[in-house]
Amino acid sequence: MNALIGQPINRVDGRLKVTGGAKYAAEFDMPGLVHATLVQSTIAAGTIIAIDSRDAEGMPGVLAVITPDNAEKLKLEKAGQEMVTRPLLQDAQIFYNGQPIAVVVADTLDRALAAAAAVKVTYRQGEAVTIMDSVLDQAYRPKHFRNGERSPDSNRGDADAAFDAAAAKVQATYTTPVEHHNPMEPHATVARWDGERLTVWTATQGIAGTQRTLATLFGVPVSSVRVICPFVGGGFGCKGNTWPPATLTAMAAQKVGRPVKLSLTRRQMYSSNGYRPRTVQKLRLAADAQGKLVAMRHDGLTQMSMPSLGEFAEPVGLATEMLYACPNVAVTHRLVAVNQGLPTYMRAPGEASGVFALESAMDELAVALKMDPVELRLRNDTDRDGHAEKPFSSRKLAECYREGAEAFGWSRRNPAPRSMRDGNALIGWGVATATYPANRRPASAAVRLNADGSVHVFSGTQDIGTGTYTVMSQVVADTLGVPLNRVRFLLGDSAYPPAPTSGGSTTVASVSPAVQAACAAVRQKLFGLVLADPETGGGFTAADLSLQNGAVYVPGRRLPLAQVLARAGVESVEAGASSGEAEGKAGYSLHSFGAQFAEVRVDPELGEIRVSRYVGAFDAGRILNAKTGRSQLIGGITYGIGMALLEATETDAETGRYVNANLAEYLVPVHPDVPTIQTIFVAGEDTQVDPLGARGIGELPMVGVAAAIANAVYHATGVRVRDLPIRLEQVLA
Ligand code: MOS
Repeated sequence: MNALIGQPINRVDGRLKVTGGAKYAAEFDMPGLVHATLVQSTIAAGTIIAIDSRDAEGMPGVLAVITPDNAEKLKLEKAGQEMVTRPLLQDAQIFYNGQPIAVVVADTLDRALAAAAAVKVTYRQGEAVTIMDSVLDQAYRPKHFRNGERSPDSNRGDADAAFDAAAAKVQATYTTPVEHHNPMEPHATVARWDGERLTVWTATQGIAGTQRTLATLFGVPVSSVRVICPFVGGGFGCKGNTWPPATLTAMAAQKVGRPVKLSLTRRQMYSSNGYRPRTVQKLRLAADAQGKLVAMRHDGLTQMSMPSLGEFAEPVGLATEMLYACPNVAVTHRLVAVNQGLPTYMRAPGEASGVFALESAMDELAVALKMDPVELRLRNDTDRDGHAEKPFSSRKLAECYREGAEAFGWSRRNPAPRSMRDGNALIGWGVATATYPANRRPASAAVRLNADGSVHVFSGTQDIGTGTYTVMSQVVADTLGVPLNRVRFLLGDSAYPPAPTSGGSTTVASVSPAVQAACAAVRQKLFGLVLADPETGGGFTAADLSLQNGAVYVPGRRLPLAQVLARAGVESVEAGASSGEAEGKAGYSLHSFGAQFAEVRVDPELGEIRVSRYVGAFDAGRILNAKTGRSQLIGGITYGIGMALLEATETDAETGRYVNANLAEYLVPVHPDVPTIQTIFVAGEDTQVDPLGARGIGELPMVGVAAAIANAVYHATGVRVRDLPIRLEQVLA
């Protein structure tokens, strides 16, 4: 029964969001709440000699100034490296400009800010390396690539020999800049201790991870920590870890014995919760005269913080390993440490940067071969992942290209650069492939059927703005045969059955199987009540019963839920269930695909670049909600337009400080930057991933966008731009 799944249902939390009823972390208030703010390092490397907080402590309303001298010693040694982000006021070392070095707590935010300004810090300044490109020769091998589950390098065949011998080849270096996520909602935490029990209201993509991290650091049982996050105002990866400000808020609440709130300013969000690292990627691609790839080499250098802060390796080469049929492929990943904070996941981490390089190089190869770039992709299409050595569970890349090309009008393209014009404007058309893994992780859920016919479903997942509340409510309504308005889906509380972090496009594929299983379990329990009652169940089996519209149907009879529960003498029926990893994980390579088509208009005198038309066609399995799904595609493509043309965080080489840490100077796309985006979902389902056949689409639609736009800019102008973002001075050069 799938009356609702797939339908363009409005967000069930839409009204709450537009009326201000949706509560975000910083909006939780409680008696006795006081305010904290960070003091941040003003140097990029060195040590703190002394922090003089006497003046600050004497100011009105100030409750505490927490510094490395008086901070609680956290159980860092117990924590797995991947869970904990540093620094946490545990020592006097400075690794980057903007590093938190003290926390000031006062009865009002204004008083906390005033006192923070009065904290005097003296440093011993060390030698800082602030610019990655000045130390590329010091690149090193990641130690925990993909959590240590694989090597940072891979090799099949002999890419270098095949390259040397090939008929057509390209070799180029591509760079992508540091970018910041910039969700609308700032990172904010409210923390309260009740004896040994800690409750935090925090903006996070992973309540379970935050719960575990805080329990470990403060040395309390996991069950003593509760993390609550009903709404997230955008995350894009920067709310995937438990960053220092959240931990320091809990530390401050412990110190002052009162609930504490800490909400970051926009500027602080540039130095406190990761960023997409800068990449320098060398690509070598070679093909035979027919355009069949014979060699691919992708050597990726990505920016890292000083190793003391942990490790994050942007996996730029993973798509190169699997995207096309090619017998000789070599990929390496290396890190380059600078005095910046720890980088992190940002929407399509790895693929967004890596596929920009790969799909730009593919376009250059098409030019070298004098072949249509769509045709080049189709010639190298494959139903097998050459790296994993498994078939793809489902791959409809060719359909994406066909349907996208048709919608875009690709056949009308004149391949010569600078050949298409509209009035004075140069018109360019470019394409690129999108791909992203179809991830799924274990999850759990619980369902309660109430006598009034309402259904409450609980799962410790998150809705990071993507539509989890809505889509899961649809799954419940269809699975149990109840109207959507009788379903209440509750999430964002670690008291609920655990679910994975909402990162890596996992939520739909992970949580929906648990929800379906919990619904099936509760239905079975309900049927058990009917069958156990001789008056209603006599002679029937569960197969004879059905649950629809708030009633159990027994042959010849309709039993409203209230009646079943009353006869059984219970107020509700509850059941829980867990689900595991993707069914087809062992036998198949699980990925989504897409084809990105961009049109740009370039002013030949001014170099101004506008994306004027856009078509994206995607193979993402079954789409559970056509409206929220389309919103994801539009959002991802918009994010990609930002990557292509606007976004870059600039560092002052001297101080290591970000110079555009605000939304006025860090450019993101606004309405005039975004054309009407035509989106296409290629029909399909992938039940190797999950029973509903759905694959996550949070990251997929932004992959390849920057390449499609760069390729369109080449087609319009004849100028190949290999360094993002593409700016007018580059096309005028
Ligand atoms: Mo995503 S970058 O895994 O939130």
